[in-house]
This record gives sequence, C-alpha cells and structure tokens, in this order.
Amino acid sequence: MKPSLSLTIGGVTFKNPVTVASGTFGYAEEFAELIDLEALGGIVTKSITLKERQGHPPPRTCETPAGMLNAIGLANVGVERFIDEKLPFLRKLNTVRIVNVAGSTQAEYVEVCRLLEKAEGIDMLEINLSCPNVDAGGMELGTDPAVMIRVLTAVREVTSRPIIVKLSPNVTSIVTIARAAQEGGAAAVSLINTLVGMAIDTETWRPRLSNGTGGLSGPAIRPVAVAMVYKVARAIDLPVIGIGGISNWTDAVEFHLAGATAIQVGTANFIAPDTTMNIIAGLSRYLAAHKLTAITDIIGRVKVKL
Ligand SMILES: Cc1cc2nc3c(=O)[nH]c(=O)nc-3n(C[C@H](O)[C@H](O)[C@H](O)COP(=O)(O)O)c2cc1C
Repeated sequence: MKPSLSLTIGGVTFKNPVTVASGTFGYAEEFAELIDLEALGGIVTKSITLKERQGHPPPRTCETPAGMLNAIGLANVGVERFIDEKLPFLRKLNTVRIVNVAGSTQAEYVEVCRLLEKAEGIDMLEINLSCPNVDAGGMELGTDPAVMIRVLTAVREVTSRPIIVKLSPNVTSIVTIARAAQEGGAAAVSLINTLVGMAIDTETWRPRLSNGTGGLSGPAIRPVAVAMVYKVARAIDLPVIGIGGISNWTDAVEFHLAGATAIQVGTANFIAPDTTMNIIAGLSRYLAAHKLTAITDIIGRVKVKL
C-alpha cells in the first residue's frame, strides 16, 4: 500500500506536507507551466499588504555561500488588486491556499484580513510577523510577545480562517514568541523567516543590497531552522511548519523528525522549480523503504537522550 502523506493543520486537510514559502513562488500562476500546482500540499502567496508596494530599489538580492540575501521590501500588488487579479487563479486550484499577510501596524494587519475575509478561495492565513526588510511593523510586532498576542487577538476578530503565525529567528528566544502565538489563538506556527545578514562589496565599500542589510535564506540557514523547529515543537501544542533551506527530500525528512508537521520550500524554487515535486516523490519512497504507513509516523521522532 502507498504510504499516506496527508495531514491536518487547523482543521484543514493537506494532501501532503510539501508547500511553498512566501515570496519565493509569486502568486502561484508564475509556476503553472513549470510544475503541477495541484500536486502541492499547499501554496503560500507573497506577503500581501493594504496598499500596493514597490519595495526597495535594486539590487534587492545577492548570492552568498550556500544561500542568498534579499531585501525585496514586501513588493506586492496590495490586497484589492490581489483579490481582483491574483485570487481568481488560486481559487480554482485543488490545493490548500494560504494567503500571507504583512503590515506596518496592527490596524493594517486587521484591515487586510478583514478585506480578505469576504473573498472566496482562501483556506488559511499566514500572518508574517517576522519580515526583516521593512522599516516599521513586521519584526517589531513579531518580537514582543505581548504585542503579538494583541495583534493576533485583533486579527482573529475579523477572520474566521485558521491562522498560521510566521516567526522570526531574529529573537533571543523563539520559544517565547511561539508560546505567545499559541496564546493569541494561532492554529499553527511556521518558522523560520530569514536571518538578518549583510554583504559588502570590498571594491566600492558599498553594501551589496540597496537596503544595506537583508534576509539570509537557503541551505546556509537549515541547521538553525531545524534547531528552532525542534525547540518550538517541544514547547507548544500547535503544529509547526518547518522552513529554511529545504532543497531535497532528505532535508524535508530532517524537519519532520525535528517536529515539523508540514514544510515550506523557499529559495530552492529559484534554483530548481521542480524541487517540491521531487520532495513529494522522495517522501513516499522513504516511508515505503522504512515500512512506514504515514508521514505522521515520523513527526518529532528524532531520538534525543533527554
Ligand atoms: C526573495 C525572497 C522573498 C521573500 N519574501 C517573503 C515574503 O514576502 N513574506 C514572507 O513571509 N517571507 C518571505 N521570504 C522568506 C521565505 O518565505 C522563507 O521564510 C525563507 O526564505 C527561508 O526559507 P528558504 O531558506 O527555503 O528560502 C522571502 C524569501 C526570499 C528568498
């Protein structure tokens, strides 16, 4: 019998645990000719803000050893154009559709969620309380537990959809923030967003990104992400969605063993757009080879002597 890859998060059933990370997959239509979108467990959109944003001027990305830095600055079409122009495509897809929401103030998060509430074709919201590349909001709101609880409580008043809270690794204790997300009523947490990083051109003495600093992603951050998933999964009662440098199915298995119920693939989409498809196939083969019947059999099963 084929092993089951399906799972449930916040009452929503995913056909498999493999989803894509916000900001690395556009609004999904961009990848329609490259992979079978409906084979994915779920799709997470680029962060959506209240008003359209152009983001930071170029250069907005640069390569680093085993990773990349980006300071896109949340460029996106804004919630109204998202609903009119991007959602109709997503709505037709038979996969879990997750809209990532960002903002600079609590009021902005609430207003974006309120506008999305009326729109059909969205299964869950992912609240980005962790973007390192905006001047106001994002990180500030997501690094103070009391503020996080306040924002989530306000957001939950205007939405009936399950909320995933995306956490920042740029904190002293991610466990404290994850506990706040649970207290604020999140259905799940996703982690990690990018780590703050910087690269400098030694000839021009200028930063390689126009914004100065940016967010580090890719294989370079994977061990950090695995450790954070491991710690958070043990500390809270919510499902954890693992993100950070996942490039193949063994990376995915590592995150599941650490405690991730599902995973998101980010930077790897830029290198090999079919990474997610290979991970789904690889997970099935892995479970069969280990005579396991379901992906849920390996979640959090890392053998650590405590
Ligand atoms: C170019 C780029 C743009 C991103 N934009 C967003 C975004 O809009 N919202 C968000 O929550 N995360 C954003 N992220 C963070 C990713 O979703 C993910 O958390 C991070 O890159 C770590 O995963 P990875 O190593 O697999 O890329 C972005 C990452 C990259 C590389």
